[in-house]
Amino acid sequence: MAGRLDGKRAFITGASSGIGRATAVRFGREGARIGLVARRQGELEAVAAEIRDQGGEALVLPADVSREDQVEHAVARLVDAWGGLDVVVGVAGIELIEGGDARVDQLELSAWQATIDVNLTGMFLTCKHGVRALRASGGGAVIVTGSPTGLYGLALSEHAYSASKAGCHGLARVMANEYARDNIRVNVVVPGFIDTPINAPVFADPTVVDEICATIPARRPGTPDEVAAMMVWLASDEASYAVGGFFVVDGGQTAV
Ligand SMILES: NC(=O)c1ccc[n+]([C@@H]2O[C@H](COP(=O)([O-])OP(=O)(O)OC[C@H]3O[C@@H](n4cnc5c(N)ncnc54)[C@H](O)[C@@H]3O)[C@@H](O)[C@H]2O)c1
Repeated sequence: MAGRLDGKRAFITGASSGIGRATAVRFGREGARIGLVARRQGELEAVAAEIRDQGGEALVLPADVSREDQVEHAVARLVDAWGGLDVVVGVAGIELIEGGDARVDQLELSAWQATIDVNLTGMFLTCKHGVRALRASGGGAVIVTGSPTGLYGLALSEHAYSASKAGCHGLARVMANEYARDNIRVNVVVPGFIDTPINAPVFADPTVVDEICATIPARRPGTPDEVAAMMVWLASDEASYAVGGFFVVDGGQTAV
């Protein structure tokens, strides 16, 4: 059976866990070849093995997205291996829920900087080197992982994280405008409350989970695979007229 991403070469950051991992596995099932990016080689090898077990093809590309030399090298390895690039998915991110993120009057510069380095500078570097490779390949798709926290002031005591995601949204908008003429579609996926390791401190307290779910019309957290399904569509040729959009996958949380 033909896959929806047959022939596509994809570069996915944050591919070792959560939404990035689910996206990589789904991309593999849909026929894409995937360059898997995160810092730890062993975790990426496990994802690559899962993709290969299902008949897919994957490259393990360990890199810290906040380090330009490492991102540039990872993109170059993918292009060397497969002759070009068609899809860039920026998923890597951190949320210092118990690691120093705070309201602005209590926020240490170090926690602000650490968050911005990975979430915003990492997204910039992923886009910078990813878009260079897409342009050399004649175009493609970029998907930026955003957040409701970058749209609304709802994440109390997470001011660095919220600002980092709003920055990603701004970068994606102007990229969408500028690169559409180069046959590059840039879009944002906005996951709501998703059950992944980034939310481990939240899921450790069932009362807090219940409180959050009460604010979500679907009354439950989402799964990484439910977000990955949107990533597949945006990466596919079916999304040919989707440019500069914000695609919310949140059980209705931001509709109310
Ligand atoms: N889970 C949610 O509720 C939710 C909601 C909105 C947005 N998001 C965003 O989705 C993205 C994925 O998060 P997740 O929920 O899957 O969490 P996760 O912790 O499971 O995954 C984060 C991934 O980013 C990688 N990563 C972290 N720092 C990195 C670095 N410096 N270099 C390279 N890779 C790095 C991790 O290794 C991991 O693969 C993040 O950008 C997050 O902000 C998540």
